[in-house]
Amino acid sequence: MMDLQTMIELKSPQELALMRRAGSIVGALLERLTGLVQPGVRTADLDAEARQFLGREGAQAAFLGYRGYPAAICVSVNDEVVHGIPGPRRVKAGDVVSIDAGAVVEGFYGDAATTVIVGEVPPRVRRLVDTTRRALEAGIAQAIAGRRLSDISHAVQQTVEAEGFGVVRDFVGHGIGRAMHEEPPVPNFGPPETGPRLRPGMVLAIEPMVTLGHYGVRILPDGWTAVTTDGSLAAHFEHTVAVRDGAPDVLTRRLET
Ligand code: MF3
Ligand code: CO
Repeated sequence: MMDLQTMIELKSPQELALMRRAGSIVGALLERLTGLVQPGVRTADLDAEARQFLGREGAQAAFLGYRGYPAAICVSVNDEVVHGIPGPRRVKAGDVVSIDAGAVVEGFYGDAATTVIVGEVPPRVRRLVDTTRRALEAGIAQAIAGRRLSDISHAVQQTVEAEGFGVVRDFVGHGIGRAMHEEPPVPNFGPPETGPRLRPGMVLAIEPMVTLGHYGVRILPDGWTAVTTDGSLAAHFEHTVAVRDGAPDVLTRRLET
């Protein structure tokens, strides 16, 4: 059903159940891939594992073929912010590896991302990753019926900038459902208390992308990989979240079995 005030799709309980299935597969996949991120693993190995995993779970890879994207997941290393294409590159100690994954179950999408630290890194790098995770949690905490969309954006930005890091402007979160990208865009920056009023049944992919230095990004000649313009490290976390009255419903956490 469409909310005519905001033109944001409202999902029924039945639709949310399918989105939770897609989401929990993504959550379990990311957990599995996180365990494989060790020195020597190739980013293409992670993609191969993702394809097998999704197949076994009876899900489709949401990213594969999306606008011609050539893989099932994105793996973005160090100064790569998002949309890194898996390939022969081997992960090494000290790397910061962001993995973004999406699944489709019976036409419904789940989308989530996490960032993994490989071995030892300087304290400020650990703080970058922790802050990005906390920024996502702060954004999720605002995804409650009655709040306004930019309350999410503002909470993310506040969390990031309080630590002196940069919040990426050129990519944003999004509504999600029968398509990976639905209305509305969900920026990670902005003033509080503006934009559409959040309603039960709205589903948002909230995804802060945070840099150690300046927030500017550029796209590599492969047409996909977004890197920081200043070469600084970046982190990315994402969850697919359903709005309801009271506590937000995170659809991309792995379901306990
Ligand atoms: N989380 C990313 C997004 O929302 C996933 C898309 S990657 C792509 O845009 F490769 F599929 F484009
Ligand atoms: Co997304």
